[in-house]
Amino acid sequence: MCGIVGGIAERNVVPILLEGLRRLEYRGYDSAGIAIVAGQNIRRKREVGKVKGLADSLDADPMSGTLGIAHTRWATHGKPCTENAHPHVSRNKVAVVHNGIIENHEDLRCAQKRNGYEFTSETDTEVVVHEINHALETTGGLLDAVKQTVKKLEGAYALGIISTASPELLIACRKGSPLVIGVGIGEYFIASDVAALLPVTQRFIFLEDGDIAALKTDQLVIYDAKGHVVERPIKESGLKPDAVDKGNYRHYMLKEIYEQPFAISQTLEGRFVKNRLQENAFGHNANEIFDRIKSVQILACGTSYHAGLVARYWFERFARVPCDIEVASEFRYRNPVLAPDTLIVTISQSGETADTLAALQEAKRQGAKYSVAICNVPESSLVRESDLALMTRAGPEIGVASTKAFTTQLVTLMLLVIAIGRRFHLPNALEEKITSELFGLPGKIEKALELNDKVKELAEQFAEKEHALFLGRGTHYPIAMEGALKLKEISYIHAEAYPAGELKHGPLALIDADMPVITVAPNNSLLEKLKSNMQEVSARGGQLIVFKDERFSASDDGNVQYIEISQVENEVSPIVFSIPLQLLAYHVAVLKGTDVDQPRNLAKSVTVE
Ligand code: AGP
Repeated sequence: MCGIVGGIAERNVVPILLEGLRRLEYRGYDSAGIAIVAGQNIRRKREVGKVKGLADSLDADPMSGTLGIAHTRWATHGKPCTENAHPHVSRNKVAVVHNGIIENHEDLRCAQKRNGYEFTSETDTEVVVHEINHALETTGGLLDAVKQTVKKLEGAYALGIISTASPELLIACRKGSPLVIGVGIGEYFIASDVAALLPVTQRFIFLEDGDIAALKTDQLVIYDAKGHVVERPIKESGLKPDAVDKGNYRHYMLKEIYEQPFAISQTLEGRFVKNRLQENAFGHNANEIFDRIKSVQILACGTSYHAGLVARYWFERFARVPCDIEVASEFRYRNPVLAPDTLIVTISQSGETADTLAALQEAKRQGAKYSVAICNVPESSLVRESDLALMTRAGPEIGVASTKAFTTQLVTLMLLVIAIGRRFHLPNALEEKITSELFGLPGKIEKALELNDKVKELAEQFAEKEHALFLGRGTHYPIAMEGALKLKEISYIHAEAYPAGELKHGPLALIDADMPVITVAPNNSLLEKLKSNMQEVSARGGQLIVFKDERFSASDDGNVQYIEISQVENEVSPIVFSIPLQLLAYHVAVLKGTDVDQPRNLAKSVTVE
């Protein structure tokens, strides 16, 4: 959701803020804006659409200043238009950029209207800037005005604040939405994500919930939720500025698809000793927790939820541990009953997904004592709020459609299945087999990537389609779901996934010669069942496209097209079968001319409900 960047320096911060916005654009791209303090005025520019529009506008009419904030928006309250774009300004004195949702904005708005404030946008954010301005008039100091204002805000926020009243001060605060401080030499910056600031610094302070930071060129003071001055550690980022470049690829998504063999090797790297998962792979107190748990509850959203669905099969099949999974946004409001000694497993690429964080908090409220996060961002809120964490090590994922995050999540989840399975019913021989399959994965994925040209050709049949069905069984049903999500997300083709056995209970009615039915067909014990389901489609004239293991003997039915995957063992085949489905979605989207990396209406990291 929305990207925030800000800076206070002795040099012109405008180009730094603009570059920061380009790097944050994956978080939202409905509109972009920038504001600086220019003497007694706030100078502001806002444009609907991508950051490029703002950059063009700044080229035509440059701005410069040493204190500024900027924003790229993913609309929640109010449509994408200039009036709703951030920064929002109150009476030419205070400017604010905001990520999150202010839930009590209507009450605040009524009170502010009574105080004579005029509203120029439909956003929830505008109440924040007026509230600060109002407090500034009574308290006399920007910092006190912000402290007073945040006490009145309900909901989630990360805020960047500047004012003509304090031209030497940048204020940042957060509650429920991420915000980092980039530490320079004689300068400070703020951003929603470290990636925004990598060109200017590798040193970061991660603000905690409730923190308010007052930044001057030569001074940084952080107040915690109770108002006490606190020290937060400075952490060095291992990321290089080019870590978020596209390289020679046309899209981030394609680059990230091709990075999967490397990403998976990174995920496995150093976590095994003599082909056995290290005892402390999940941290030193992990075993104590794993020894106590009796069941597993997985919580996640979107692609991460699909990874969890695969893991549920693994937990029960390999480890024989009872495992349940639920979409986080449902779990958080369901008043769930958790069995004692349930391990909560949250899965999230970003670690900032509001629903997943809230579901974890709900699980704790319901008495859950143990939690583990499977995450790609070590400093994320989810990791900090969990007892244990294992990083997926996918590297930054910029394309909104998750690819390498998904496959590394699956690998990491398999490590968790091993760690827990050892305490339950995972035989040593099976653990060794799974381990050796995991180590063979990068090679298998390289092979699957060689299908690119065939899949690209296949994609041509989809460009004119409006619907598609995906089928799978067992661990490959979630893979079919993920294939359907990828296709709909970036090509805007309506795609649905079904467990193949469900077909005859309704969806079969949809089958005709125009309906592509993509089937995920590994060589496993369910193959014969799946073949019968495929027959049901063929018999009704459906257009079957089958991603099959090379050992599967294909019928020569002219209606069926096969794409052959090199032999892969059942334990890890869901990971390998994901690859051609990612490629399919990618090529269909390219043919349709959609915005592959920034599909309409979506954002990478969903930090609001
Ligand atoms: C997948 O392609 C999507 N971008 C989306 O479903 C995503 O997986 C979901 O929003 C969860 O995000 P998270 O992994 O960062 O929590």
